[in-house]
Amino acid sequence: MAADGTGRSATGGFSDGPVADGQGRFGAGRPSAGSVADGLEQSSGERATVRLRGAPVREHPAEPPRYAPEWLRLREPADAAARAHDLLDPLRIRLAGLPGRADGLVVHDLGCGTGSMGRWLAPLLDGAQHWVLHDRDPYLLHFAAAGAPHTAADGSRVTVETRRGDLAHLTPDALNGAGLVTASALLDVLTTEEVGKLAAACTAAGCPALLTLSVAGRVDLTPGHPLDTEITEAFNDHQRRTGMLGPDAVTVATEAFAGHGATVRAQPSDWRLGPGEAGLTAQWLRGWVGAAVEQRPELRARADRYLEERLAACAAGELRVVVHHTDLLALCRPTGGAP
Ligand SMILES: C[S@@+](CC[C@H](N)C(=O)[O-])C[C@H]1O[C@@H](n2cnc3c(N)ncnc32)[C@H](O)[C@@H]1O
Repeated sequence: MAADGTGRSATGGFSDGPVADGQGRFGAGRPSAGSVADGLEQSSGERATVRLRGAPVREHPAEPPRYAPEWLRLREPADAAARAHDLLDPLRIRLAGLPGRADGLVVHDLGCGTGSMGRWLAPLLDGAQHWVLHDRDPYLLHFAAAGAPHTAADGSRVTVETRRGDLAHLTPDALNGAGLVTASALLDVLTTEEVGKLAAACTAAGCPALLTLSVAGRVDLTPGHPLDTEITEAFNDHQRRTGMLGPDAVTVATEAFAGHGATVRAQPSDWRLGPGEAGLTAQWLRGWVGAAVEQRPELRARADRYLEERLAACAAGELRVVVHHTDLLALCRPTGGAP
């Protein structure tokens, strides 16, 4: 596992562009209405300057968007608060029925980013665990390894390894020996084909899959504003425009897993953002509105005013936002002699 070794400064890597992944995942592009307002910087280690705004950006048009670790860090507490605990007992029951492994449970976390799923889940499961953290971004894998949990719920040991690779090329043997597959805030940035490969690989491994925090395409802002619906629709279209599933992810994934004979359970996992989450809300707003404008440039003037008003309300502690997400637990048919 390694960082990319370039000592890249985010000035080159993460600085521009509206973000647009539903909870602030961002597409490529130019600064938008509010994206100019940010610019948190940090000075530490080899990366002299890191701007928080504009999480994933494309360094080159042919490259996939990249996610700023600062954005993933900012959203981690809201993600943890949103995750559907009701899926944990069915998951534990399934894990208890799977054949035991001498070295404990092997968990493959796909699109791990900086590793927030492991930090949340590992301490909630009993027994020794080995986490295999997958991402295509070596820089994020570096953070994931450095911040990995060490201890399970019952004090057993948790170990990790990282694997760099693109899920577009996921093959069933990549998950050999997996007892559990996880993903968080991933499905909506995948394509139908990639989700199909994921379902096939989990089915071949015969293991459950906990697929969390997929955007549902719905946002509730209080107080309401006449432009809310139009921005939401433009944002959803923006997510879909390069073939990513966006708000269709949950339906597509459910069908893909069910098509392989899995039982799929869904639970809401909404972000509920109030005055205590003003930093995340402001950042999310910039990305959300920025992507909507990128999708429908005719919105720009109205969206600029909208964003200004929304950011002012947020700073005043007068804005509440619910960003709807869904968690899925897919219980694939066990293989290898499990009940
Ligand atoms: C929104 S971030 C979520 C990160 C992390 N799971 C979390 O919840 O904080 C999506 C992550 O998936 C990774 N990713 C997206 N598409 C991928 C692909 N096709 N192959 C591998 N990784 C991918 C990105 O690099 C990024 O780290």
